[in-house]
Amino acid sequence: MSDDVVKVRIVTPDREIEAEVPYQDGMVLLDALRYVREEIEPDLTFMYSCRNAQCGTCAVMVDGKPALACDTPLKPGDEITVEPLKHVPVVEDLMVDWTYVTEHLRRLAPVAHLDWFRRRDPEEAEVLHELRSCIECLCCVAACPVISAREGVNPGPTVLRKLAEESIKAGDTFTPDRGTVYGCTCCHTCEEVCPKDIEIPGKAVETVRARLREEGRGPLDPHDEVGKLAVETGRSVTYEGESFLERYSGTHGEGDLRVMFFTGCLVDYRLPHVGEALVRIAEELGFELVVPESQVCCGSPLFRTGQRDRAEKLAFRNLEAFNEADPDVVVTLCAGCGATLKNDYPEVLGERFEWEVMDVTELLVHELKVTEEPLEYPGEIKVTYHDPCHLKRAQGVWKEPRRILKAVRGVEFVEMKEPDRCCGAGGGVRSGMRDLARLMADVKAGMVEELGVDVLTTVCPFCEYNLREAVDRRDLDVEVPNLTEIVARALQPHARG
Ligand code: SF4
Ligand code: SF4
Ligand code: FES
Repeated sequence: MSDDVVKVRIVTPDREIEAEVPYQDGMVLLDALRYVREEIEPDLTFMYSCRNAQCGTCAVMVDGKPALACDTPLKPGDEITVEPLKHVPVVEDLMVDWTYVTEHLRRLAPVAHLDWFRRRDPEEAEVLHELRSCIECLCCVAACPVISAREGVNPGPTVLRKLAEESIKAGDTFTPDRGTVYGCTCCHTCEEVCPKDIEIPGKAVETVRARLREEGRGPLDPHDEVGKLAVETGRSVTYEGESFLERYSGTHGEGDLRVMFFTGCLVDYRLPHVGEALVRIAEELGFELVVPESQVCCGSPLFRTGQRDRAEKLAFRNLEAFNEADPDVVVTLCAGCGATLKNDYPEVLGERFEWEVMDVTELLVHELKVTEEPLEYPGEIKVTYHDPCHLKRAQGVWKEPRRILKAVRGVEFVEMKEPDRCCGAGGGVRSGMRDLARLMADVKAGMVEELGVDVLTTVCPFCEYNLREAVDRRDLDVEVPNLTEIVARALQPHARG
């Protein structure tokens, strides 16, 4: 193919069109579609209006991801596949039926605003401003993994966005369906594809959930139990006679770098061997690992389910642990803890929270330079990696785990079809809507089965639990460890001569 053309493959429910479009400077996908209609297929149906990322009508799937055609730049030599938006009925070719989703929006607005006077809160006004920038393109709906798993559970991110808008404006006249509000895993996939960069989980979903909690109409009972437990005991799961902190609080390893280990609830009470792997790494690589006994749950499950008042109490308790340890860096090996410490704590604690937080894979790659170490796995394994949503999208960390896995001799690393597709464990879905969490994890287990791997690794105990159960449901002979354990095994003396 010549470099001065763009090859466009249009796949619709009824036909497939392949076209070569002469490239022109500054060309976007919408120009290419118009060329195809004007020069090759005069009956090709698609929509557009503003050509300026304003009207939302030109959204399509571009190489499997939703995007605005008028906001998708092309380069000479590009080969691009275009399909109609997912999760919305197709009218013809690339034209979809928006009313399928927007009828939910119409039912929501405008609600009766009974107060004749209400002082405007500047913070609420700012959130409203962001939510109101929605152009109803439905890119978020096409990307939502909950809708992929089970249509109807969650009517879509843009509906949740509209609910948040109404919850801010309407006070207690606001009565959303609880299944809709809690059927979101806070995976940030909608935010990733939104052309207006609307923070749907943070500004919409958590806003609605917090409003329902303020009014005593939320969260779901299992969330409430987790919230009470976390505030009363400092842990979001029950004690079962084993605690990592009881055995390992104190200092391990020696070196110039002082690292505080924020364990998280599951490593403390359910997966102490994952914490032990980090202790072994500290001893092997030579850094000081401080494990303060006073640390408690980070509050992630509470923040995500709208129990902000309870989560804030935990943040202040953890502040004492950070001050006691006074580390150079805080390390987490749970994506949920890491995202909460990085994104929620600065908001809640302000300048009092002065520590750098790193996921264990960031620490290993950037501070400890582990990929320059002799890493050798005891034996040979084929491994795939699941991106936790709260690590890839909430922390921007996805290259580091792969760099580590590719550096270990004896590990054959293979990617699954959609490594960053949500497994269903987050946002209170695993505790509040277990069937949905199972359904979503089963999709990922299917991808793992296709690869024939020995190991499925990740850096999140919540994903780990959800995925391990899915792998077991399929009767697969696949181990599901935290990536920290793989590194600890590869650093053992056998590997270092
Ligand atoms: S929230 Fe963003 S992606 Fe979703 S419809 Fe609105 S503008 Fe489009
Ligand atoms: S955060 Fe994830 S699950 Fe929730 S609405 Fe957005 S895409 Fe769907
Ligand atoms: S044509 Fe209006 S958003 Fe693309």
